[in-house]
Amino acid sequence: MLRAWLSASALVAALAAHSAAASFSFAGSNLYYAAGLYPQDRDTLLSGLQSAGMKVLRVWLDGQSETQKGTNIRPFPSLEPTQVCNGVASCYNDTVLERLDEWFLPARAHGIKLLISMHSYNALPGDVYGQTYGVTGFYEDADAQAAFDARLRHVLEHVHPTLGPWKDLDEYIFGFEAENEAMIGIDGTGAYIRAHQEWQCDRANTIRGELGSNEGILVLTGGESWVDESVQDGFLSCPTLDVISLHAYSPGDFNTTFLQTYIQRAQTAGKKLLMEEWGACYYDTDQNNCPSGDALPTATRNTNLQTWASEITAAGLPWLYWQVIPNADPHWGGDYEIGVNTDPSWSTLEAASLAALQAPAAFDFGPWLL
Ligand SMILES: *[C@@H]1O[C@H](CO)[C@@H](O)[C@H](O)[C@H]1NC(C)=O
Ligand SMILES: *[C@@H]1O[C@H](CO)[C@@H](O)[C@H](O)[C@H]1NC(C)=O
Repeated sequence: MLRAWLSASALVAALAAHSAAASFSFAGSNLYYAAGLYPQDRDTLLSGLQSAGMKVLRVWLDGQSETQKGTNIRPFPSLEPTQVCNGVASCYNDTVLERLDEWFLPARAHGIKLLISMHSYNALPGDVYGQTYGVTGFYEDADAQAAFDARLRHVLEHVHPTLGPWKDLDEYIFGFEAENEAMIGIDGTGAYIRAHQEWQCDRANTIRGELGSNEGILVLTGGESWVDESVQDGFLSCPTLDVISLHAYSPGDFNTTFLQTYIQRAQTAGKKLLMEEWGACYYDTDQNNCPSGDALPTATRNTNLQTWASEITAAGLPWLYWQVIPNADPHWGGDYEIGVNTDPSWSTLEAASLAALQAPAAFDFGPWLL
């Protein structure tokens, strides 16, 4: 009896510990050009992210041909390099998908899942969709929507050489999103996004339609320009969206009490929130606009990093940093980056990421993490 009682009580304790552990926060990172990394840089990055306890790496599908942020690139074309493919399998160039295939096993070995963003607004004006339909036509024209849905299905049905179709790989893939920052550049006020917010739910329906009953992979929005713009009522009410992605670079958007109002809205709607992009500018320019300037003193940048990460974590939001790179940061262009292991800000970011793992979260992402 005593023995039975002890094991029952041990079971209760283990279950309590499990459910508590499941609602802890986490951190991760972004690397838009991950598909272009050489294997050695990939492994350096993954080892560093793992040492920081990071759980998710967000990657994109835009082609890259030149060195990015000081990282050497194995060139690869965009998925639809010359024309809108409309589901014709032989028309897509799958090199980018095959390069990402090479990440799945090493990432999992480091306790990291991939979040796959299947197109980017950044690419749209210059790519086959922008050229064929125009930027607003891409979102409004039924033919463009059908062609883009065919792209989403092509990606989800891509077959990893040893693991099988991506849409089944919940042990490797955290989530899918149709597009990074859909519609953000069309006007500066967010009015266009508000007026066309059903675009997100229509694409989420396509993604969820492919995933079917596989609840092990999340469907996300891919974020907008700032927190308020990232959270639209039509996203919260969309049955096939699981996670509303927040992107934010202004310090006011990291404020704990401010973020909690959005968390409450999401909880009421039965959705999760993720701070999917944020960063601390290397320069002394406006935090929102970080293309060049004088370097901040390292201590100042580290204080910013630590303060903002703590505020986001205190709100109960998991976060992905923009971005950890596999090499020393050459400080090219918009610069929130931190070079893994060697950067003067790396240990601050690493500590903030490890702290997230110990902090309670407002949303239970446990079942979707390794
Ligand atoms: C894909 O692109 C690569 C690099 O440009 C090229 O070598 C390859 O032939 C292309 N494959 C297809 C099927 O078009
Ligand atoms: C966060 O926002 C609250 C409510 O607007 C405000 O009272 C507080 O001062 C802000 N905190 C910081 C650190 O800016």
